[in-house]
Amino acid sequence: MIKINTVADQIQLSGIRRFDEWVSKIDGIDKLTLGEPNFITPQHIMDVTKTALDNGRTHYEASAGNPELRQATADYYNEKFELAYDAKNVLVTVGATEAIATALKTVTTPGDYILVPVPCYPAYLPLMQLQGVKPIFMDTRTTNFRVTAELIEKTLQENKNKAIVGFIFNYPTNPTGVSYGKIELSSIKDVLKKHDIWVMSDEIYCELTYEQPHISMANLYPEGTILIMGLSKSHAMTGWRIGFVLAEERLINAMKKVHQYHVTTAATLSQVAALEAVKNGKQDSVPMRDAYHIRRDRLVTALEKLGYNLIKPDGAFYLFVEIPKKLKLTSVEFCQQLALKEKVAVVPGSAFTEFGEGYFRISFAASDEQLAKLIIALENSKH
Ligand SMILES: Cc1ncc(COP(=O)(O)O)c(C=O)c1O
Repeated sequence: MIKINTVADQIQLSGIRRFDEWVSKIDGIDKLTLGEPNFITPQHIMDVTKTALDNGRTHYEASAGNPELRQATADYYNEKFELAYDAKNVLVTVGATEAIATALKTVTTPGDYILVPVPCYPAYLPLMQLQGVKPIFMDTRTTNFRVTAELIEKTLQENKNKAIVGFIFNYPTNPTGVSYGKIELSSIKDVLKKHDIWVMSDEIYCELTYEQPHISMANLYPEGTILIMGLSKSHAMTGWRIGFVLAEERLINAMKKVHQYHVTTAATLSQVAALEAVKNGKQDSVPMRDAYHIRRDRLVTALEKLGYNLIKPDGAFYLFVEIPKKLKLTSVEFCQQLALKEKVAVVPGSAFTEFGEGYFRISFAASDEQLAKLIIALENSKH
């Protein structure tokens, strides 16, 4: 019998996907589960890609990405977030997921430790496990789900004997929607710099902010930042699978090797689409962001009126809501009941590590009808 690697054997499929698969079997279910924009990719991007296909663009691209795309991507983020990248600072990957996996593989050694604020996007932890890297959790429940410089400092003091090399930061945050202003980010940067810790900053929701413009960690701490970006959320391009790593040239050159041996290059047609997005789609995210903004406000008002405690999201398209304690239900039980009785699916907080227990996550990348149904379902489920 073929033996399976012990880590591959032990890690679990994503709790979000598992729950989504479970609810998909329920007749008439409305799913507000996946982090999937409910818009299709802007038409100009699809048109350019169709023409490229008709012109026979079916061959391999350069491994680190099409050179014009690498330059246009650097220009795009430089302009939006006052950064100073060049084509050689960009690696084009298969979604942000591969960007994270490749970057982790390139800059960590088995036995290293990484700071991870929790609850968090679930993919980070299995990717670290596969690499033999261990997380040091920072429980953000005590700080309103926000990372603070004090929390980092305290965690470092408590773990002085461990080789902590990096910090995985994600903002606007999945699953809470929390984001940060310049003062908070600067003090986080100061503590990281003081302890010589790099940050892998997953800013894939950077264009979906509602309260204040996004500030990139790469603007404040360029020498210590590995920036993870992508078009999945900003341009409703989840299915095209395009992400980016932006970092020092030396790091990108090393990542290029890891990337090349795993995937050779991202799909050529998707790179054509990506080039059109970053060159001619600079404002594409605005109407989507405005639509999410309206939904966020409606949803927050409605759920607060029903008496739910929630984190008002600064960005992304998620709402992290506390399950009323009097119900005495785990997050999985609450979400299963909601799905079975009310035919609406949201994700149990425990999918975002055990630190998300007691909560559920709504994706409001959904239609007005679905959100109206959800509000009624939550009204029926609060007692
Ligand atoms: C925080 C975060 N990072 C990365 C990703 C993965 O993005 P992609 O679909 O581009 O691989 C997601 C997707 O939901 C996410 O929420």
